Amino acid sequence: MSEPIRVGLLGCGTVGSGVARILTQNQEAIAVRAGGPVVLARVAEVDPSKADAVDLPRSCVTTDSMAVATAEDIDIVVECIGGVGKARELVEAALAAGKSVVTPNKELIAKAGHGLLQLAAARGVDLQFEGSVGGGIPIIRPMKESLAGDDLLSIAGIVNGTTNYILTRMSEEGASFEDALAEAQKRGYAEQDPSADITGADAANKISILASIAFGNYVDVSEVDTEGIDKMHPRDLVAAAELGYIVKLLAIAKRLTDDKLEVRVHPTMIPKTHPLASVGGVSNAVFVRGRYVGDVMFYGPGAGSLPTGSAVVGDVVDAARNIRHGSSGRVPCVCAAKAELLPADQICSGYYLRMTVLDQPGVLGAICTVFGEYGVSIASVYQKRVEGRSADIVWITHKSRESSFRQALQRIDQLPVVERVSSTIRVEDV
Ligand code: HSE
Repeated sequence: MSEPIRVGLLGCGTVGSGVARILTQNQEAIAVRAGGPVVLARVAEVDPSKADAVDLPRSCVTTDSMAVATAEDIDIVVECIGGVGKARELVEAALAAGKSVVTPNKELIAKAGHGLLQLAAARGVDLQFEGSVGGGIPIIRPMKESLAGDDLLSIAGIVNGTTNYILTRMSEEGASFEDALAEAQKRGYAEQDPSADITGADAANKISILASIAFGNYVDVSEVDTEGIDKMHPRDLVAAAELGYIVKLLAIAKRLTDDKLEVRVHPTMIPKTHPLASVGGVSNAVFVRGRYVGDVMFYGPGAGSLPTGSAVVGDVVDAARNIRHGSSGRVPCVCAAKAELLPADQICSGYYLRMTVLDQPGVLGAICTVFGEYGVSIASVYQKRVEGRSADIVWITHKSRESSFRQALQRIDQLPVVERVSSTIRVEDV
């Protein structure tokens, strides 16, 4: 029987406690798969009441996370603290001390992953992060290893459960954004401070990670064009449904040329027939298109203690096997350089547009003239409802360049017959 591989866990909150539970409950199966025992040896947690949930002698629980990250008798460090500051310090110290590191921390990997992976490679250890995107859904390893022989072309993902829950409630029940968010918080889906979810920042971190793996150059998340769901109105979700679409917060990455990518996060109208359209509630899904494989979709629970814990422990098993076999990162993340992203105003997509206009002759003609001047072609238009002298008009455009569409919109907004432009949503056939 080989010597146990010893795990040090940093943070025993939602995900950390799931990791501890799986490592303890499922240790026999894990030992078989890891080629020998894997034991949870130490836990660092600032809140001692959280550590009480872990089945370990008190002497193995500490508040000193740096001591665990660098302890001589720890082989694998699992970072479940979250954020970048302290977590980055700890992960750097652990890697420098020759430990393999497993983390589900999407913000850390999106913002500092490139440097940390270089450090891990230089030290001949693993840095694994399956739980960072899609919670329990296997997506990082399939993209890195199973699809390593393919030529990946695009990724479109619902990678934030909170916003997917909110949009589902808004479109199925006509709930307002505020009510749907309050419900998500009540059910424990959304954080007390849900700003990273609703602004799209969390999804931007996740698509940066996926795009870096898929396309081989690392994506700087601060350059990702990002729009959240906080301005969504239920009326637009109803109109989208009537037109045969559904609105999802999509994280999209496309390879345009060998060294140029398009990466963006925004509410997106997709046809109801698209596989991503049926992904409702808190579920996540990632739709990947490869030149050889065609279209594949990964679906499941995108967050939560045990689903994300399962992904983390899968990484621990892999890292443990690598330690036993004296290898690391068999199919590494190869990010040669920083990816060049297409500027946001150059991106092309279709657009949904809702506006309130005066219900009188010549209005559609005046608006169409402006669209025509900017080369924006209309795919469909209909008058949605009339109140007094005003009417709501909904437009769908063919694919147009963002800059042309925005310029046209600015001019249209100034037309005396236009009372207000209420909303715009990108339309994609992904
Ligand atoms: N806040 C995230 C979500 C949790 O709602 O999907 C997992 O990253």
